Amino acid sequence: MDNNYKIAVFYYTQTGQLLNILRSLLNPLEKEGCTIIYKSIEPVTPFPFPWNSEAFYQAFPESRQGIPCELKTVDFSDVYDADLVVVGLQPWFLSPSIPVSSFLQHPATIDYLNGKMVLTVVGTRNMWISCHDSLNKYFMRANANWIGNITLEDRHKNLVSVLTIFRWLIDGVKEKTRYLPEAGVSQEDIDNVSNIAPEILKTLREKDYNTLQQRIVEKGGVVFHYSLYQVEKVGHKMFGFWSKFVLKKGEANDPSRSWRLKLFSWYLMFVLFVISPIGSLVLWLLFPLRRKSLSQIRKKYLYLYD
Ligand SMILES: Cc1cc2nc3c(=O)[nH]c(=O)nc-3n(C[C@H](O)[C@H](O)[C@H](O)COP(=O)(O)O)c2cc1C
Repeated sequence: MDNNYKIAVFYYTQTGQLLNILRSLLNPLEKEGCTIIYKSIEPVTPFPFPWNSEAFYQAFPESRQGIPCELKTVDFSDVYDADLVVVGLQPWFLSPSIPVSSFLQHPATIDYLNGKMVLTVVGTRNMWISCHDSLNKYFMRANANWIGNITLEDRHKNLVSVLTIFRWLIDGVKEKTRYLPEAGVSQEDIDNVSNIAPEILKTLREKDYNTLQQRIVEKGGVVFHYSLYQVEKVGHKMFGFWSKFVLKKGEANDPSRSWRLKLFSWYLMFVLFVISPIGSLVLWLLFPLRRKSLSQIRKKYLYLYD
């Protein structure tokens, strides 16, 4: 069967995790005859990895407010005729990472995405809901058809993954240590995402774009967590206030923002380790009362705002 579909893949990754996910998902399609063209999104001034604490928190206000950074020019010339566009991304401070939000807001990208079929692939610690809302706005603005979303996450308990992600991002240690597991999306989940490849091929062959997301959900390609959703919604709102408070002191990387960012970092630790476990317990107790409305919300996030 002739499967010569062209898939354009735009992605950003610091650790390589996202590229591993994308390759696992798309390699089977390449074997079936599809042409996959990878395009890395690259800031003119790269973000550090591993991060130091100051640089990490300096990225917060721009992440939350979607303030773009300068990117190296992306060449779209060989992918104008792509049958499918894949965008590989990760949340930073509950919003699309700065390189990806910069890419999605760039006039050349908006022009390119007009009318395109778009699949998003997200590699996250576990909080991707508010980022999803931002993506929806960007794709609506570009008049793109958002046909699917796959989200792989760290499956360890929330507080465990908080500790391991900081160990990974700031100290550069991904591997299991004495008391903590390996950070990030498990290799097993990365390998298993290839099970979704046949669904993408079916979509391309049959031009059946409307059922792709249903099939992704059935294959476990994205999961919705009620308790994390509620904690994240509050966090996103609070991040909005904090980011504006810091931005009053200056633009990206301005040292005069440091003190307010330090305050924010203490606030964040307090919320993560004190407020959110208590909040999650209360929300869990209230779950029966909110079952109906939460199941509507779950549907919205799993099935792309159906
Ligand atoms: C500045 C920063 C903020 C992050 N914030 C979040 C977040 O809000 N929610 C989340 O689930 N993961 C968060 N992460 C983890 C990333 O989404 C991602 O999984 C991890 O950094 C792996 O990096 P890569 O995709 O660039 O290879 C954050 C990472 C960074 C560097």
